[in-house]
Amino acid sequence: MSQLANWYRLHGRHDLVWRHTTDRWAVLVSEVMLAQTQVQRVTAAWPGFMQQFPTVAVTAAHTPGDVIAAWGRLGYPRRARRLWETAVIVNTHGWPTDYRALPGVGSYTAGALAAQIDNDPNAIGIDVNIRRVVQRATGSILSDSMARQHAAEIAAPLVGRDRLLALMDLGASLCTPRNPQCANCPLRQRCNARGPLEHERPPKQRPYKGSLRERRGVILADLRARDHAQAGDYDAEIVRSLLTDRLISESEGVLTLALD
Ligand code: ADE
Repeated sequence: MSQLANWYRLHGRHDLVWRHTTDRWAVLVSEVMLAQTQVQRVTAAWPGFMQQFPTVAVTAAHTPGDVIAAWGRLGYPRRARRLWETAVIVNTHGWPTDYRALPGVGSYTAGALAAQIDNDPNAIGIDVNIRRVVQRATGSILSDSMARQHAAEIAAPLVGRDRLLALMDLGASLCTPRNPQCANCPLRQRCNARGPLEHERPPKQRPYKGSLRERRGVILADLRARDHAQAGDYDAEIVRSLLTDRLISESEGVLTLALD
């Protein structure tokens, strides 16, 4: 067994709750949540969401507003709308062979789904953690496609699900942005950087206070709490942006979470 495989067996985050299923819908929901929300908050939110929306068919039978309401305070609520749209599409047409055909699914998510659900030996998604590990190991800043190639070499003989999750967990627990624990790293013998690279991009921090996101969040929180509200009570521009994203509906000046 390679050192990475052994490390992953002993120290991987196997207890993360969504890792106990390979159900397509359940894993998709987890990846959509994890794309912009911290692991800890997803750990708290995912089980309840799955209880309410256990399958594509159940989700497709709800309104988008029901899914947006259940999304609660996870943030970036367009994700909730897209999940509902996905449920409607999959309920009608079945799952696509390439997950990128689904709303809002980009190359990371598609690769992560194929690796985790189908254990496709060739599949991998390059998320921020995996990118950091691979860039440090190779000692250079890489395009997505180069990162995928190097990830395969670095993690061999691991493939598919174990390769994705071993590299991801190494990035999350040892090969961290600051103060990486190189002394304990299973890749230390082959690592070119043994620490942060000079040109690593710090993650983009978008301020929430005073942002459009915050002001949209106030309206959505009101609608979750009391089911309808008067459009006239809010800034018209913010209301319009929520209507454009189809997160809310308006009828004769009364707002609700999206009905269709
Ligand atoms: N397990 C599977 N996918 C994950 C992700 N995107 N973040 C954290 N843990 C995960």
